[in-house]
Amino acid sequence: MRANKATRREFLVGLGGAALGIGLSGVTGLLTAHSQEKPGTPELPWPYAKLDPVAAAERAYEAYYKGGCMFGVFEGIVGELRAKVGAPYTALPTQFAIYGKAGVAGWGTLCGALNGAAAAVYLVVPPKDGDLIIDEIYTWYGQTGLPDYKPKSPKFQIAPSVSGSPLCHVSVTRWCEATGFKALSPERAERCGWLTASVAKYTVEQLNKYADKAFAVAHPIPKEVTTCLACHGKGGVKENVHMSKAVSCTQCHFSLGTKHP
Ligand code: HEC
Ligand code: HEC
Repeated sequence: MRANKATRREFLVGLGGAALGIGLSGVTGLLTAHSQEKPGTPELPWPYAKLDPVAAAERAYEAYYKGGCMFGVFEGIVGELRAKVGAPYTALPTQFAIYGKAGVAGWGTLCGALNGAAAAVYLVVPPKDGDLIIDEIYTWYGQTGLPDYKPKSPKFQIAPSVSGSPLCHVSVTRWCEATGFKALSPERAERCGWLTASVAKYTVEQLNKYADKAFAVAHPIPKEVTTCLACHGKGGVKENVHMSKAVSCTQCHFSLGTKHP
């Protein structure tokens, strides 16, 4: 702590010196010294230890009521790793993930549970394989009746629904249509708590399989979507869509023009 403070003071003095025209090389030297003294954070991916999916789900459900859906999933998984592995997870302030609540600070875009899952995956799996695991989680989420995990001490009984989409808005509103509850009701909040637990559990199951070198895609991108993207995606005759994956295109584009090829 003390050493850090001293370094910081020297660094600031160094910048002042540069402003007075003492010269660039001195500043570069100080910057190098400064970065070398920074306490080390290991490079990604961080070590993963196989977790109990139910323990992660329960931790996620509890965290949901403290910081929302993204925090719930992220803390559900990283909290288990913190308990099992220790450093470097002990140094990670998972509270940053609160931003993802209700589709990013209430914007209804990406479901926060999915956002938290992807962040956790990228912490422990290299990007190329991480993307495959994210694909599996997102497609499963879109195609499965969720929530499918019931916490040990639930506040209400919750029925599942299929969202067809990774979006918070679609996921919540379809559940409201299916069950008759309002979008800002305590039942809907509880539903998202169960969903947070469900996503944490499924994510840990995928990460455990990956750790065992047994990960396999169970929910491929639907053919309907890959058909659309053959023309609208990379290299297609009408390359104007910047997404290479979806659960459904026709959920939004339900009436194409009569002249559409
Ligand atoms: C064989 C290639 C091809 C496939 C497959 C294809 N499209 Fe298209 N799409 C086009 C072309 C070319 C246009 C532009 C047509 C035009 O300008 O009249 C277009 C236009 C569109 C438009 C805007 C015009 C409209 O009709 O609403 C939408 C939306 C669209 N496509 C969505 C989709 C979706 C969703 C799918 C999959 C269900 C799909 N497309 C599959 C080639 C394709
Ligand atoms: C969440 C809803 C949603 C989903 C899912 C979605 N789109 Fe769209 N898409 C839109 C919206 C909104 C626009 C903008 C429409 C506009 O400007 O009229 C758009 C625009 C388009 C256009 C241009 C339309 C035009 O008038 O030229 C195409 C082509 C298109 N989307 C294809 C796709 C394909 C292919 C997929 C699946 C991979 C897809 N979209 C998934 C909502 C969606």
